[in-house]
Parts: sequence; structure tokens; C-alpha cells
Amino acid sequence: MLYLGIETSCDETAVAIVEDGRKLLSSRIVSQINLHRQFGGVVPEVAARRHLEAINDLVAEVFDESAIAPRSLAGIACTNGPGLIGTLLVGLSCAKALAWSYDVPLLAVDHILAHVCANYIGSDLEPPFVALVVSGGHTQIMHFQSYKDALVLGQTIDDASGEAYDKVARLLGLGYPGGPAIDQAAVGGNPRAFALPEGVVAGYDFSFSGLKTAVLRTLENHKDKNISVDDLAASFQDAVNRVLFRKTMLAAQNLNLDKIVLAGGVAANSDLRRRFETAAGIRLYRPAPSLCTDNAAMVAAAAHYSGQPVPLSASAYSRRY
Ligand code: KG4
Ligand code: ZN
Repeated sequence: MLYLGIETSCDETAVAIVEDGRKLLSSRIVSQINLHRQFGGVVPEVAARRHLEAINDLVAEVFDESAIAPRSLAGIACTNGPGLIGTLLVGLSCAKALAWSYDVPLLAVDHILAHVCANYIGSDLEPPFVALVVSGGHTQIMHFQSYKDALVLGQTIDDASGEAYDKVARLLGLGYPGGPAIDQAAVGGNPRAFALPEGVVAGYDFSFSGLKTAVLRTLENHKDKNISVDDLAASFQDAVNRVLFRKTMLAAQNLNLDKIVLAGGVAANSDLRRRFETAAGIRLYRPAPSLCTDNAAMVAAAAHYSGQPVPLSASAYSRRY
């Protein structure tokens, strides 16, 4: 079963074709990072226009590279939310046009579930497992009981982890996007240089806004002294990652599951990966860094396992609740 996936929920235009949810035949991603860097963040209207300029060429390229006949597709799958409404509609309109013209089913895919499904590509992963989904918009611990049934065990009550990385990077003058910049700066820093608080929230929930304020206070208190940005970046990263690690491990232990899956842009973080890679007693699955951040291979994989056939009148949504 072949699915074509389309992803335009934020600032990456992506198209891919995946076979049986596991085998990547072709994948294209055009990132808008350089376009939005001058604004310090994604400008939705600018992003939507750039998606429109890029998407048709990417569709042509994946059909070319995979050499598959469009009419042999089991479906055209598209992220329909959550994300930026204007950018989502560009991808969805393209998906509708393709589904209609090739007479194949249109499928809608949830962006968060798609991030988790990136882990099926090239791997033997099967549910049940515990997933830590950490992106620019979401931070959730989920229990995947089957390919289609996923329970949210806990989530952030304020900022997403990626959002915290981006905001703190801006405070530290490290630029945009902040996650990779902090990851890099932290390599040369001492994670114990500053005692920063983990947000204390019950159960499997998270809070990162207090930590962000603590970084700001630390900068203010050291205004006249020479502060090491690398040390502060490493201390911040340590505070985020230790709570993500501890609560995910606890969820797996409480559910008696040894399979842990990492997903989303922050799952590219080298310190977070190392913590799980060196943890005893678990079987870890994490996508290659290029499949952690937004891509369309994950959308095509998700279509295979849990895509919802929808009519050509289907719409997109920016938030789930
Ligand atoms: O999943 P994603 O590409 O888009 C959303 O669905 O939001 O995630 C983007 C987020 C950004 O906040 C970015 O700073 C973060 O992932 N990110 C990282 C790293 N690479 C990307 N955060 C920490 N370390 C990284 N290496
Ligand atoms: Zn994403």
C-alpha cells in the first residue's frame, strides 16, 4: 500500500511517498527557516505564501523519484491540524486536488500522531509503547495501546518544550530556531553551573514557563558580570530534559511497558537522546534527526496505520481543544 503524504502545518513544506507505512520511497522538505529568521519566529501569512510557491514542484519530484503511477496510490494523506490554519489549508487544498484528479481517497492525519509514526519508518516498532512527543507546539506523554488507540497521559500546562527552547534561545541571543542553537551551545557548557527549577506539576504533566522566567532572572542578576551563555544554555537544557526523561520513564514503569518512543523536533536534541539511549531496561525508538522535525514521510506512515478517510469538503483546524 502506497501513500503520498503532505505536511504544511508550520514552516516546512514537505511531500513524501511511503510504502506500507515503513519504507520511504521519496521525501522532499523545503524549510523556511531562513525566511523567518529575520522576524525571530514564523510569520503565518508569509509561511502560507511560501508553501504555495513550493508545493507543486515537490509533488512532481516525489512522483519522479519513486516512479510510481499516481493512480496506484492507496491514498493522498495530509496533515489537517493542529497547526497554523493558513498554512494547513495550502497543503490540504493541494491534497484535495490530487485526490480528485487521480481518483484516490483523501486522508486526514493528526500532526502529533504523525510525529510518533515517524518511528515506524525503517523500523520494527509495534504498539504497545509509551511516546514522548516534544515539539514547538506540543509536549505530551502518550500511551499507544494499538496503532489506532492512543491515550494522552500528561501534557504541558503552559509552554511546549520546543517553545521554551526557542524563547530561552532568544533571551540568550542565540537566534532562531532556538532548539538546535541551545543544543550546540550546551555542548561546551556546564549543566550544573546554574541551579534552575524544573516546573513542579503533578502526575505526567509539565510546566516550562517558570523555568523560562528563571533564565530571565538569572540573566538580570548577572547583568554586570560576565555570564557564560554556554553554561546557562546547558543548565536550561538539563532542567528541561531531566523532567522529560523522568516522567516518561515513570509512565513506562507504571504501565509495565519497556518500549519508549521519542517524537517531534525536540527529540532531535542530543542530550535528550543520550539520556534515553543510556537508560537501562528500555527498548528505545527514535527517528533519525531529519525525521524528528516536520516532514511528510511521517504523514504517509500515519496514513497507513491510522489515517481517516475524509470527503473533499474536509477542513483544517488549528487546535484540538
Ligand atoms: O516538530 P517540529 O519540527 O515542529 C512542530 O511541530 O512544532 O519542532 C520544532 C521545534 C522547535 O521549537 C525547535 O527549536 C525544536 O523543535 N528543535 C530542537 C532541536 N531541533 C529542533 N530542540 C532542541 N534541540 C534540538 N536539537
Ligand atoms: Zn511538528
